[in-house]
Amino acid sequence: MNIGVIGVGYVGLVAGTCLAESGNDVIAADMDEGKIALLKQNRIPIYEPGLEELIARNAKEGRLKFTTDIDQAIRDSEVIFIAVGTPSNEDGSADLSAVYEVARRIGKNLAGYKLIVDKSTVPVGTGDQVEELIKAESHSTNFDVVSNPEFMKEGTALDDFMKPDRVIIGTGSDLAYEVMHRIYEPYVRTENPIIRMDRRSAEMTKYVANSMLATKISFINEMANICENVGADIDAVRRGIGFDRRIGFQFLFPGVGYGGSCFPKDVDALSRTADQSGAHAKILKAVQEVNLRQKRKMVDKVKKHYGKHLSGLAIALWGLSFKPKTDDMREAPAIEIINGLMELGVKVRAYDPVAMDQAKKIFGDKIEYGDNPYQTLEKANGLVIVTEWNEFRRPNFQKIRQLLLEPVIFDGRNIYEPKDMAKLGFVYYSIGRPTVNASK
Ligand SMILES: NC(=O)c1ccc[n+]([C@@H]2O[C@H](COP(=O)([O-])OP(=O)(O)OC[C@H]3O[C@@H](n4cnc5c(N)ncnc54)[C@H](O)[C@@H]3O)[C@@H](O)[C@H]2O)c1
Repeated sequence: MNIGVIGVGYVGLVAGTCLAESGNDVIAADMDEGKIALLKQNRIPIYEPGLEELIARNAKEGRLKFTTDIDQAIRDSEVIFIAVGTPSNEDGSADLSAVYEVARRIGKNLAGYKLIVDKSTVPVGTGDQVEELIKAESHSTNFDVVSNPEFMKEGTALDDFMKPDRVIIGTGSDLAYEVMHRIYEPYVRTENPIIRMDRRSAEMTKYVANSMLATKISFINEMANICENVGADIDAVRRGIGFDRRIGFQFLFPGVGYGGSCFPKDVDALSRTADQSGAHAKILKAVQEVNLRQKRKMVDKVKKHYGKHLSGLAIALWGLSFKPKTDDMREAPAIEIINGLMELGVKVRAYDPVAMDQAKKIFGDKIEYGDNPYQTLEKANGLVIVTEWNEFRRPNFQKIRQLLLEPVIFDGRNIYEPKDMAKLGFVYYSIGRPTVNASK
């Protein structure tokens, strides 16, 4: 099948590559000339495990092409996936200008039947708008607009696309459903379901999924904070509740709050949709509020530990991306934490295995960067752990102790055992667990 993907970001690039991998001819188009030039040289603008090799292979075999000629890509494709960004407007609603711009272009270039697939995360009713815009430009009704929200996770995006838990197809058209089914069949051979529903419900499903996940995170963070105040241990509590199958263990890890390009903006956008519809969503607002508070938690801990003597201190910070296995720093807790520390006059020296270039775009020379995790510790007064990269899980603690001026660790991801840290002689703060102070 000839497939066009408009918008070659995390989602468009992964989806386009995976669609080519199963034999389709894919043309991936973006208005970002720099990005397309890079991709044409088989270099990828993002970090995603396994993606570079897959792009190289499919490009070499001629199934995956990149272009800035969006009109041509539309004309050459039977199926067009819209995967452009839908960032937040200032009021929290979704900015749909890119989606509408692509819809107009599709309308201008429509000839013969085309299936338009909205993969971007868009508020309920956007499919209707896209349909209207295409109709207005083309004066034709020879097309269908389907909602096909994407659930891939950065860091495991290829696997998520190739073996999705489920595929959602929102359409009232049997023809559109049949084509979509054909496209997705290769990825659901283990019987994971393709679920058909109406378009509005499909649009809503994506927001509800992300809001549920964000709610779980804020919930466990709130419980962790209560544990801290009453002298309980959230790890024990987590085990205590997780074996109840109605609750489970997944996505119930306390930490420094959620970030990334999806949860914050999607919870905001759904909250906004709720307000507009008259169904004021109290839980969604609380989820965001708790998350913001949690992002500031590590700074509060640092402040409390050092008291008034903060100005001029140096803090090492491990982990900048919003989660491991990605270089994405959009809405990353590290940003809030670094800004909070700098406001206190603290010098920050940071390290991340892949997100250093992103951090340099945000902070420039306002902070220092280590070539490796240990280099950040030299003459630092303490270490803050923000992202739970695997390489931080079993470090050389003796070396950490030797390099730090004071053996203090603020662990925002609970990656170490408090009793081990006590034995190793650290002052150890974590989330929702008793503080360890080996010197007391
Ligand atoms: N990143 C994720 O993990 C993820 C997961 C599921 C769903 N989503 C959703 O998918 C959508 C895309 O997200 P992303 O993370 O890939 O975004 P992104 O910002 O990485 O990429 C968006 C791309 O669209 C391009 N673009 C913008 N306007 C354009 C236009 N008018 N014409 C052509 N190209 C244009 C940009 O240049 C950019 O390359 C969003 O709605 C997002 O919420 C993202």
